[in-house]
Amino acid sequence: MSLRRYVKLFRADILSAQPARLYRAWMAEFKTPFFRSYLINQPDLVKTVLKDRPLDFPKSGRISEGLRPLLGDSVFLTNGALWQKQRRIIDPAFEGGRLRETYPAMWEAAQAALARLTARTGEVVEIEEQTSHAAADIIFRTLFSIPIEDALAQKVFHEFRAYQRTQPILNLAAFLPLPRWMPRFFRADTKAAAKRIRGLITELTERRRAEIAAGRAPDDLATKIMTTRDPETGERFSTEEMVDQVAIFFLAGHETSASALAWALYLVATHPEWQERLAEEAQALGDAPDFADISKLKLSRDVFREALRLYPPVPMMVRETTCPERFRDRDLPRGAQVVLSPWHQHRHERLWDNPDGFDPARWSTENGRQCMREAYMPFSAGPRVCTGAGFAMVEGVLMLSLILRDLKLTALPDKVPEPVAFLTVRARDGIHLAVDRR
Ligand code: HEM
Repeated sequence: MSLRRYVKLFRADILSAQPARLYRAWMAEFKTPFFRSYLINQPDLVKTVLKDRPLDFPKSGRISEGLRPLLGDSVFLTNGALWQKQRRIIDPAFEGGRLRETYPAMWEAAQAALARLTARTGEVVEIEEQTSHAAADIIFRTLFSIPIEDALAQKVFHEFRAYQRTQPILNLAAFLPLPRWMPRFFRADTKAAAKRIRGLITELTERRRAEIAAGRAPDDLATKIMTTRDPETGERFSTEEMVDQVAIFFLAGHETSASALAWALYLVATHPEWQERLAEEAQALGDAPDFADISKLKLSRDVFREALRLYPPVPMMVRETTCPERFRDRDLPRGAQVVLSPWHQHRHERLWDNPDGFDPARWSTENGRQCMREAYMPFSAGPRVCTGAGFAMVEGVLMLSLILRDLKLTALPDKVPEPVAFLTVRARDGIHLAVDRR
């Protein structure tokens, strides 16, 4: 299609700007005067980029540009030695044992979310707003031991909400054939919002630094990360470095989880038989499941996984070649953009049985198991895999199960949500469901 039309479609909606044949293609090339872009669906090539030679395919600078005002040098954007050091300090806070320590805060936030939703029974509720609120609450409680009702937490939450509509995670810069030096796409309001958010986060981080020094800091994720030394250099994060990391935890940690949970709730609302099965599973577990019980919520996990397949919150990831490569008989020049697309790979017609259908039972089939290994990457894969993947799987499965234990959700035939990519995959006009007591 013409560039003009592509840009127009892209501005409207990055997902529908993609031609339908990409759901069958192994690779697609997008030629522009200033760079080449390649969308890769073929599993062994995705593996090359993410798992086998990740250092040869760093994060694309074109993508980082748009997010840097907010995220600075956060682990989400950095490459090479700096990124490795950041992961060495951050990763221990998200390990299994530590996750167990985080669970009580998660549980309290889930209870509060359920109470807010229960108060709305008999109404039609916009669900994304509820899940955003819940996911932000979980991040505040697990990271800084404050509930979302805290005044500072409220301010951060509202600023992030405004921000996410102005700045898509895949900004146009990554796809448009413009030279890098051309100034563009930084909207003044995006920059101003980023500055305000960083100011608020700096306040939280400095406060915590003082509490750690005084020996009265709560044992939450922020304290864990701020007191962990890099095992190789012995260094800890400075306040400035920690602000960068907190910014990405809020952003990556709440927008993604909120998106996944909202779509999962929509999917069970449109598949009442699964909704019933999940309600039964939840009720069998009793009033207060503990951390170990989460692994027993098998159906809830299968449904949440299926929601992440059909509506991956991060629809695409972009890397850059650092030397000439040869993929599928094509030469990729140095500096080419390599797009890895959970959005396309998860619905790939040559890989999945019933690619567009909602079928949580697929995970027990041969095809489902194989695709899970080779063609499923809602959290990315390899060394740059999402640090919060384990955290998100506990939070999502727990929230889904808890809500369906008590409440019944019904979709409205005249309000079918249309997925669009803002910062994450969201519904253009929200997800509206009728909420009733079970
Ligand atoms: C359903 C929820 C989530 C989904 C689908 C998700 C997905 C992803 C994906 C696809 C990436 C890789 C992006 C890329 O390589 O371009 C990523 C990275 C990341 N995520 Fe998540 N995420 C979720 C929840 C979380 C949570 C709860 C946290 C933290 C509390 C988190 C923190 C991060 C961080 C720090 C990175 C950067 C890792 C790196 O580049 O080394 N995420 N996430």
